[in-house]
Amino acid sequence: MTDFKSKIKTIEWIDTYSKMVDQTVIPYEYKFVNITGGQEMFDAIRNMIVRGAPAIGIAGAHGIILFAQEGAEKISDRNEFVKWLLEKAEYMKTSRPTAVNLMWAVDKQIDVIKNSKSDIKGIIEELKTNAVRLENEDIEINKKIGDYGAEVVPKGATILTHCNAGALATVGYGTALGVVRSAYAKDNTIQVFADETRPRQQGARITTFELAMDGIPVTLITDGMCSYFMKKGMIDMVVVGADRIAANGDTANKIGTYTVAIAAKYHNIPFYIAAPLSTIDISIKSGDEIPIEERSHEEVTHINGKPVCPLKGVNVINPGFDVTPHELITGIITEKGILRPDYVKSIREIFE
Ligand code: MRU
Repeated sequence: MTDFKSKIKTIEWIDTYSKMVDQTVIPYEYKFVNITGGQEMFDAIRNMIVRGAPAIGIAGAHGIILFAQEGAEKISDRNEFVKWLLEKAEYMKTSRPTAVNLMWAVDKQIDVIKNSKSDIKGIIEELKTNAVRLENEDIEINKKIGDYGAEVVPKGATILTHCNAGALATVGYGTALGVVRSAYAKDNTIQVFADETRPRQQGARITTFELAMDGIPVTLITDGMCSYFMKKGMIDMVVVGADRIAANGDTANKIGTYTVAIAAKYHNIPFYIAAPLSTIDISIKSGDEIPIEERSHEEVTHINGKPVCPLKGVNVINPGFDVTPHELITGIITEKGILRPDYVKSIREIFE
């Protein structure tokens, strides 16, 4: 089995609510939670019950349906309902600031609301149809990313990845781990090295979990170890996901990605980004314009609820993401092929 969760969606709309894998408890538990309200969805995104750029996008789209259902119960005037719902949509976009897929997917729902000719009930049905379409498209897109990416994976390669850009960060299959899955289906001698990814440990908790479930060989390392293994010649390529890619190819991804990219460049190891086109924000020229999320200090000072440093007299800073400059990126693997430098040109052309 090389297709973890191919039949199960990480996040899925069910009649009147959103069903999702609770990512805060993996690997201790693998369970689903039902999100039934708009504010509850906002909190689920912010508190990372759902996480990973494409999955957050779908969660945002579901959040608009949840708010719409609530609005329909208390507002009968259509114009008033639409005005109220559009305000809630803008609010939903603020649940996490860096992954542009959230804004992209909520904007898709805003388009539905603005273009609808239906009554309130009809608008809700159209929002549901749109969300389910986005869910299904996400899996298809990831499979295409996987297939394009597999073409650049050398035989028997060891692939380093950072954070989790897998099935659990998307509706299914994954972006960076989609590349791994497609490559493994062709060549079962490849393997993955997974960075632990402090502070939230998505690499340790989630990437190793889903790869082990698929039987794909995975070795867990801590974040500081990547250059050690690169120097030893044990890493053949790096593939990571992305939260937002600027028009010049600068890419925001989980904090620590930039360090991996610098180490890869130094050791002449190809460094690839795998992401859908919805992660590219052509409205911003460079990575300097990408908003970086600041998260709670407790993520750094504690592991599993236990302090790892003195809690008095120690300053803490916790940016959730960093930006890898485009010069360090060998290629951006998308559902329409692999973009290469010059990224200003290749990104502009793909959107033409
Ligand atoms: O804070 P997270 O866990 O949402 O961050 C996730 C990442 O940085 C992923 O690499 C990125 O969203 C791509 S997911 C396909």
